[in-house]
Amino acid sequence: MPIEPSLPRNLPGEPAGAKLSERIVRVDHAGEYGAKRIYEGQLAVLGETPSGDAIRAMAAGEAEHLAWFEREIVARGVRPTILHPFWHVAGYALGAATAMMGPKTAMACTVAVEEAIDEHYAAQEVALGDSEPELKQAIEKFHAEELRHRDTALSHEAERAPGFQAMKLAIKTGCRAAIWLAERV
Ligand SMILES: [Fe+2]
Ligand SMILES: [Fe+2]
Repeated sequence: MPIEPSLPRNLPGEPAGAKLSERIVRVDHAGEYGAKRIYEGQLAVLGETPSGDAIRAMAAGEAEHLAWFEREIVARGVRPTILHPFWHVAGYALGAATAMMGPKTAMACTVAVEEAIDEHYAAQEVALGDSEPELKQAIEKFHAEELRHRDTALSHEAERAPGFQAMKLAIKTGCRAAIWLAERV
């Protein structure tokens, strides 16, 4: 089993309360946008193949998640991450590149991303505690849906992708770095 490197989750003196929810909305908005772009990249390659419908169904879920955080960004007056243009390109590139390696690799990408998101949303649920019940409820709902995306990808033989473990680790590490960055800038 490869050791999974982790990034520091909190720096000393990091914000709580209103600042915490601001950070959560910013990073989740960025993440859901990245997810939408990953699936757009995958659909450009695999849209008309047998995997197309499963990918489209997951993409529809991401569109709902993104729409929710887009409303929150506006309602709360939260500045989106300055790396937005980067997620636009990087998400699409990751989706298209994995799809070009075949449908199983595309699904392996979903497993990796959703595993990273699983830890991320779980940590946010803990951090929020009893504050912001509406935000927490949305995160819990999206969290459950992300786990279903992971299961969909597993049922599409993600684990049979060549080099599954190494690739999963690489993509998960990239996702953790992206989350770390989006929480800060
Ligand atoms: Fe999502
Ligand atoms: Fe998802």
